Amino acid sequence: MKIINTSLEAVAVEPEQYPADIRPEVAFVGRSNVGKSSLINALMNRKALARVSGQPGKTRTINFYNIDNAVYFVDLPGYGYARAPKSEKEKWGVMIEKYLQNREQLRGIVLLLDIRHPPSALDLQMYEWLAYYGFPMVCALTKMDKLKRSQVAKHVAIIRKDLGITADKQGVLIPFSSETKQGRDELLATIGGLL
Ligand code: GTP
Ligand code: MG
Repeated sequence: MKIINTSLEAVAVEPEQYPADIRPEVAFVGRSNVGKSSLINALMNRKALARVSGQPGKTRTINFYNIDNAVYFVDLPGYGYARAPKSEKEKWGVMIEKYLQNREQLRGIVLLLDIRHPPSALDLQMYEWLAYYGFPMVCALTKMDKLKRSQVAKHVAIIRKDLGITADKQGVLIPFSSETKQGRDELLATIGGLL
């Protein structure tokens, strides 16, 4: 998959605000602060089209990025931001669930996990839920620049084991860094495959 032109097409809270056309969509899912917006910027080769923040809970809407008038990349709010007020957490949960459950043109999911840590209970729940519903999925293991190169394979193996991945297609794990762009080509090719 090659990306030339990108723009922010729609910012949605309710389904009525999603783009009205039926282009295929790829959604980026993961806990708050894991690096979803940064990864989308890295894929698009844009510095700051998607808003990034060191504070968790930055993305609070569903943002649709138009990729060459052919595909939408969908940046979702993160889950598991413990310090968000309960009412906000519930609102984001409903927003994410409504999108994932009902969006017909959703063709694939990129689930983001921090390569430094074992998946959290919420990560495991999300992975299992997505796998159960049969979404084509790839896991991007973010922030690999924060590990020593010699540590990467060990961390990938731990995450693979925790997710219970054997050898099928749901098992694609791609170490990634938005800082160095490592993993970008492989992830783009895999997303192209989902589409
Ligand atoms: P929410 O919108 O709150 O759900 O967060 P998000 O998942 O969109 O995370 P975001 O892209 O805003 O990044 C969170 C923080 O992690 C920011 O400070 C980023 O600069 C940093 N970050 C993201 N990706 C990487 C990476 O690959 N390497 C390093 N070193 N930092 C990263
Ligand atoms: Mg974000």
